Amino acid sequence: MNRKRRIHMDIAVISYSFTGNNQLLAGSIAKELSAEHIQISEPKTRTTGTIALDMIFSRTPRVQPAPETIGGYDLVLFFGPVWMGHVAAPLRAYFKYLKSHPQRYGFLSISGGADGTNPKLTGDLHKRAGTEPAVLIDLHIADLLPDHQKTVRKDTSAYRLNDSDIHKLTHTMMQKLREVI
Ligand SMILES: Cc1cc2nc3c(=O)[nH]c(=O)nc-3n(C[C@H](O)[C@H](O)[C@H](O)COP(=O)(O)O)c2cc1C
Repeated sequence: MNRKRRIHMDIAVISYSFTGNNQLLAGSIAKELSAEHIQISEPKTRTTGTIALDMIFSRTPRVQPAPETIGGYDLVLFFGPVWMGHVAAPLRAYFKYLKSHPQRYGFLSISGGADGTNPKLTGDLHKRAGTEPAVLIDLHIADLLPDHQKTVRKDTSAYRLNDSDIHKLTHTMMQKLREVI
């Protein structure tokens, strides 16, 4: 029997976004979960050039708020883009914190998906956070576009989610999230 859990869970949603997609989706999920939404910012200006450098050299950029901010929650849900097959660099400082302060966490993303799935995400998260995520949901912009078989990177990178996309993606993510919370 599938009984609803009535125990209150303290969930934090924390998001990084370069072009706004993951921030919008994170906000919508936080609202559904009545969770706090923490938005990550960087003191240094982010460019496509520094994205490439951070990913190639595996750098951990400085971010706000401080990584300790995520301490003490029952579940931390990270949102951010996938860059070059990996989780966006601005989330790394928080994963490093999890390595020394183990906590249940998840990674959720609306990524491009022009080259298919992103098979390296689980390994990347495991390596950086020390444990595998309780939930990993990587949805793709390519699946929102008509004729998605022919979608190329240029189309997905330029795409900004509209209200109807947010609604659809929120529904899909909430269905999967309910299995773990
Ligand atoms: C430099 C760069 C590299 C990217 N690499 C990937 C990738 O490897 N896989 C993927 O699915 N999407 C990739 N994307 C697409 C983003 O994940 C996608 O546009 C995402 O929705 C952006 O999220 P944001 O608006 O929250 O920044 C890349 C985008 C950029 C700018």
